[in-house]
Amino acid sequence: MSKAKYTVTAALPYANGPLHLGHVAGVYLPADIFVRFLRMNHHDVAFICGSDEHGAAITLRAKKEGITPQEIVDKYNGIIGKAFQDFNISFDIFHRTSAEIHHKTSQDFFLKLYEKGKFTEETSEQYYDEEYQQFLADRYITGECPKCHNPGAYGDQCEKCGSDLSPTELIHPTSTLSGKTPVLKTTSHWYLPMANHEEWLREWIKEGKLDGVQQHDPKPWRNQVIGQCMSWIDGGLHSRAMTRDLDWGVKVPLPNADGKVLYVWLDAPIGYISATKQWALDNNKNWEDYWKGDRKLIHFIGKDNIVFHAVIFPILLKDHGDLILPDNVPAYEFLNLEGAKFSTSRNWAVWLHEYLETYPGKEDELKYVLTSIAPETKDSEFTWKEYQTRINSELADILGNFVNRALVLTQKYYEGKVPARGELTQEDLNVLGEIKAIPERISKLVYAYKLRDAQAEAMNLARLGNKYLADQEPWKLVKTDPLRVETIMNIALQITANLSVVLQPFLPTTAKKLSHFVNFTTTNWEDAGREDLLQAGAMTNTPEILFQKIEDTLVEHEVAKLKNTIQENTPIQNSEAMELIFEPQKPEIAFDDFTKMDIRLGKILAAEKVEKADKLLKLLVDTGLDKRTIVSGIAEHYLPEEVIGKTVQVLMNLAPRKIRGIESQGMILMAENEKNELSFLVPEKEFNGGCGIH
Ligand code: 2FM
Ligand code: ZN
Repeated sequence: MSKAKYTVTAALPYANGPLHLGHVAGVYLPADIFVRFLRMNHHDVAFICGSDEHGAAITLRAKKEGITPQEIVDKYNGIIGKAFQDFNISFDIFHRTSAEIHHKTSQDFFLKLYEKGKFTEETSEQYYDEEYQQFLADRYITGECPKCHNPGAYGDQCEKCGSDLSPTELIHPTSTLSGKTPVLKTTSHWYLPMANHEEWLREWIKEGKLDGVQQHDPKPWRNQVIGQCMSWIDGGLHSRAMTRDLDWGVKVPLPNADGKVLYVWLDAPIGYISATKQWALDNNKNWEDYWKGDRKLIHFIGKDNIVFHAVIFPILLKDHGDLILPDNVPAYEFLNLEGAKFSTSRNWAVWLHEYLETYPGKEDELKYVLTSIAPETKDSEFTWKEYQTRINSELADILGNFVNRALVLTQKYYEGKVPARGELTQEDLNVLGEIKAIPERISKLVYAYKLRDAQAEAMNLARLGNKYLADQEPWKLVKTDPLRVETIMNIALQITANLSVVLQPFLPTTAKKLSHFVNFTTTNWEDAGREDLLQAGAMTNTPEILFQKIEDTLVEHEVAKLKNTIQENTPIQNSEAMELIFEPQKPEIAFDDFTKMDIRLGKILAAEKVEKADKLLKLLVDTGLDKRTIVSGIAEHYLPEEVIGKTVQVLMNLAPRKIRGIESQGMILMAENEKNELSFLVPEKEFNGGCGIH
C-alpha cells in the first residue's frame, strides 16, 4: 500500500503580538513533532504556516501602539518567524496573509463561490461608531454576553462560554474605538448560508462520511472537537457574513464593494492554500497536488479555533468543489501559567522569543517539558518548578545519565570501540524485545495524535537503558567477567543508537548529538527497533553532558520576574477581559439594586452530603430569624464535619430553588480564588448570627 500523503497546517498566528508558551504547547510543537515523524516515515508531506495579518486583532493593536497596521504586521511577522526558526520548528513555509499571492488567492476563492451562487447578499442594520465613522464588527465591539453575562464578550464570539454571537445580540454594546455606545446603520454584505450544510456536516464529523463515502476514521477525532461542532450545529447554523466594512484586509473583488474586505476568518484559512502556492512556486512543485485528490489535510489548532476549521472552512472547501476537506482537526485545550491564565495585557506570560534569548541552546529542554504537559485533552499548566523537575529528574537523571554512562564506559573499557555481543541472558532478550516494541508503540500513538504519550514512550527507552545498566552493574563485573560486560555495553550502545532515532521527532537537537556520539545517522523510522544499528568494532565519540541541571535560583528568578512584571492596576480593556486572572468587573448596578439584597451572618448547625451529588452539601443554618435549609455547592472543598459551627454570610432573600429535590432557602457566600479554591468569609469580631451585612 502506498504511504498516505499529508498537508499539515498549524494555525496562522495573528501578527499582533509575540508567541507565548501556551501557543507553542498547543499548536506548533505538536504539529512539528507529527510532521517530523511523518517525514521519517516517508510520507509525502507539506508543513504550512504563516502569519495572519488581517482583521481587527491587527488594526486595534496598531491603534494601541500608535503605528500603522502594516508596521504592526511587519514587526510581529519578524519576531514570530525568528522565534519559530530559533525554536527549530520545521515548517516548509512560514508565509504571510499580506502577500499579494494571498490576496489574489482569496479573491479568486471568493469569486468562485460567488459565481456558483454560494453567497447571499443581505442588507441589515449594523452598529456604527459615529465618531470614527466606522462599522463595528467582531472585536470592534464588546458588550455583555447574552448567554453567560461575561461583560467582555466580542461582537463575534464570547470567549468565556464559547458562544457564537453577532454584535446586535450583545447587551450594552460599546465601541472599542471610541468607548461610546454605537448607533445602528444600514449596510449590505455577502453571507454564507450555513443552515444548508447541517446535514452533511453531521454525517461527516460524526462518521467521517461525505456523500456516503468514508473520508476519514472519526475515531482519532478528539471528543472535544466533535462535541463542540455538534453543539454548534445543534444550536442551528446561522448565515454568517463573509465580508466586512473595513479598509484593512483583502478587498472584495466585486464592483460596488468599495470599503469592503473579506472577513478575516474567510481569508485566514485560505492562507494555508496561498502559502502552499508560494512554497510550490519556490520549490518547483504543483500546489494542487497538496489540496486535491488522495491526501490527508490536518489542521493543528487551539480549541478557540475549532468551529472555524471543522465547520466553516470545510463548508467553504466543499462549496469550492474540488478541494480536500480536513482528515483531522487536532485541537488543543489551553495551557495555564503558574496557576493563572496567560495574559498578554498583564504580561503574565513566558514569551517564546524571550526564553530563546535567555536560554540559547535550550530548545529541546523546553520542547520536552511542553510536550510532557501538553493540553491534549484538558487544560494544563506550566510552572517553572515543573520545568526544573522534568529537566533534572527526567532529561538529566534518566536520558543524560544513561547516555553518558554508556559512552564513558565504552571509552574507558574499549577506547571508544563498540564491543561485540556474546551469549544473551533472559534480561538481555527482554531488553532487545523492548527496543523493538517501543517504536511500534510510539508509531501507533503518533498516528492517533497522542504525542504526549508518544514522547513518554520514547523516554521509556532511556528509562529501560538506565535501569539495565543499573541492574547489570558492568562497572562491578568488569574485573570478574569482562566478556559479559562486552555484551552489556553492546546492548547499551544499541539502545543509545535507537534513542537517536526515536527522539528525532521530539528532541531533534538532542537526537543529533546522540547520533554524533554513536557515529550513526539515519532519518528512517524503520531503523528504530533494530538491535544491530552499531557494528562491533565501530568507533564512538566522547560524549558531552546533554542536559545541565536547573538550579533553584532559576526557578525563583523566573517566578519573581513574572510576579514583578505583572502590571498591577493596569486599566482593564473590555477586549482583554477574557485574559485576566480574576473575573472582570460586572456591569454597574444602581444603589437600589444593592439594597434589595438581604445579606446576614448565620451559623451552620448541621451539614450532610446530598445523595448522588458530589458537589452539594445540605446545610441547616441559624440565621437569627429562623433555621433554614440551604443547599451549597461546596462538597468538593469541605467535609460536612468541617463546616458545622462555622459563621457564614447568607444571602437571605434569594428566591427558594429546588436542588435535587431539596428546597434551598438562600445562598452561602464564599470567596473563590483563581485556582477555584473556596474560603468562608469569617467576621473579624465575634458577631452573632442574624447581623445584617450592608
Ligand atoms: O486564533 C488565531 O490566532 C487565528 N489567527 C488563527 C487563524 S488560523 C487560520 F485560519 F488561519
Ligand atoms: Zn458568554
